[in-house]
Amino acid sequence: MKVIVTKNYDEMSAKAFEIMLGVVKANPRAVLGLATGSTPIGLYRNMVRDHKENGTSYREIRTVNLDEYAGLPADHAQSYAHFMRENLFDMLDIRKENTNIENGMASDAASECARYNALLDGMQQDVQVLGIGSNGHIAFNEPGTPFGSVTHVVELTESTIRDNSRLFDRIEDVPRSAFTMGLKNIMQAKKILILANGANKADAVYGLVKGEVTEKVPASVLQLHNDCVLICDEAAAARL
Ligand code: GLP
Repeated sequence: MKVIVTKNYDEMSAKAFEIMLGVVKANPRAVLGLATGSTPIGLYRNMVRDHKENGTSYREIRTVNLDEYAGLPADHAQSYAHFMRENLFDMLDIRKENTNIENGMASDAASECARYNALLDGMQQDVQVLGIGSNGHIAFNEPGTPFGSVTHVVELTESTIRDNSRLFDRIEDVPRSAFTMGLKNIMQAKKILILANGANKADAVYGLVKGEVTEKVPASVLQLHNDCVLICDEAAAARL
């Protein structure tokens, strides 16, 4: 794994953008695997600014998102579908029909997972952006998820519900389950770009880079990927 340590969040975001821009320029029809959360917002801001200032086009770009809360409709303010529109898609020239995310409202969860897996089978990500949970989760693959997992419905851990409750009015409003790409779907990406900032990620980053490769720390599977870049700020890198 290549590790790049930056002074702060802005530098982390700028570095991540450099890599993203390289992928988009190399292939204007690239498949971008995208993530939600606070961590990639700076990367997305750089993409939007560059699109406005330099006209980089996303017209033929296709995207696949990692995960979505179960039970939230796409227009719900806390849904990940909404997050992606607000923070990225609405400000680019990307075609909405080329953006993909699990349907949190699917009445038949098994067939929704099958639909998403079939889609991913035909859409290898040129780059997959990831954040990391404080317990070492990636997407919503919580500790104990098999490395061979594909898209599935997951019961969120108490620690993830607590971490994510900051974006909801009340902790009771955080959905208890979610659809998520599995670790195998993530590992199929040609390139992985994982971002982490802040002291609360230091333990997870240690597990990602230096810990044992174990299903107890889902992010540790990335040690087995042949083109994975971690960009993190000094606080998140404190234990490396
Ligand atoms: C959520 C998402 C993950 C994300 C993680 C970290 O649980 N499902 O994809 O990486 O939170 O979020 P943040 O970037 O806000 O710290």
